Amino acid sequence: MNSTSDAATHDIAVADTVAELRRRVASWRGASEIVALVPTMGALHAGHLALVSRARTVAHRVVASVFVNPTQFGPGEDLSRYPRDPAGDRRKLAEAGCDLVFMPTVAEMYPDGFAVRVDPGPLAETLEGRSRPGHFAGVATVVAKLLLQAAPDVAVFGEKDYQQLLVIRRIARDLDIPVRIEGVATVREGDGLALSSRNAYLTPDERARAPMLHRTLREVARRVRGGDDTASAWGLRTLLDAGFAKVDYLEVRDAETLEPPRPGAPARVLAAAWLGRTRLIDNIALVP
Ligand code: PAF
Repeated sequence: MNSTSDAATHDIAVADTVAELRRRVASWRGASEIVALVPTMGALHAGHLALVSRARTVAHRVVASVFVNPTQFGPGEDLSRYPRDPAGDRRKLAEAGCDLVFMPTVAEMYPDGFAVRVDPGPLAETLEGRSRPGHFAGVATVVAKLLLQAAPDVAVFGEKDYQQLLVIRRIARDLDIPVRIEGVATVREGDGLALSSRNAYLTPDERARAPMLHRTLREVARRVRGGDDTASAWGLRTLLDAGFAKVDYLEVRDAETLEPPRPGAPARVLAAAWLGRTRLIDNIALVP
């Protein structure tokens, strides 16, 4: 829907305050334009740009947010070394035809005295939630804020963070936030590795091993379809044999509830595993 053709030659408009974000979105709304939001933590890659591209097909105006959200990182996680590239992000977003980038400071998002946390409920307690306590409360809080700040018609998220996508759908539904949440398929390297800002941490040796994660998920899905109920245990062993230092989980779950799979219902194979100091996550659909 977005008809901007010469965005690549211009720098992108930046809002660094909620007031400025709201002012710009209100002017589009005044012109009856549909607005999409693409929340990110920056260090943008082709996976993020696929979200912008989807957003452009469903909205007249696209806002991307770039904010490394401290509340979704646990103690000892990679907040301080998380890759940051604000100038590169602005350039890529301009080239992708994004209309505005919201780049708030931590103080703008969490002013002194900030005290509320959104509790995303049971969907957030399993898998990632078990490995990273408090992570989804941080995600839920910042995404709820972004949705209320930008008030978009549509918000676009990647299926790479599949549990996050389900949690966000639930937040919008249960808090009556009037937005449609769209999921976009994971973008992969040629060898199957899911694109992630954290891939930048991988050493050459780890990078060579990393595609085993996706390959193993595919083989687990194939085995499950063939009726093998030891497939997850096989997948876990295979990853450890391939040089992954630790597997936080490798599970087959119901695609909507993340509970154990129901016969005949769509499922998902999800995993999180460590290569050295880098934690990779991935998931694929398992259609019975
Ligand atoms: O997926 C991410 O990059 C983040 O978790 C999100 C949704 C932008 C919230 O900080």
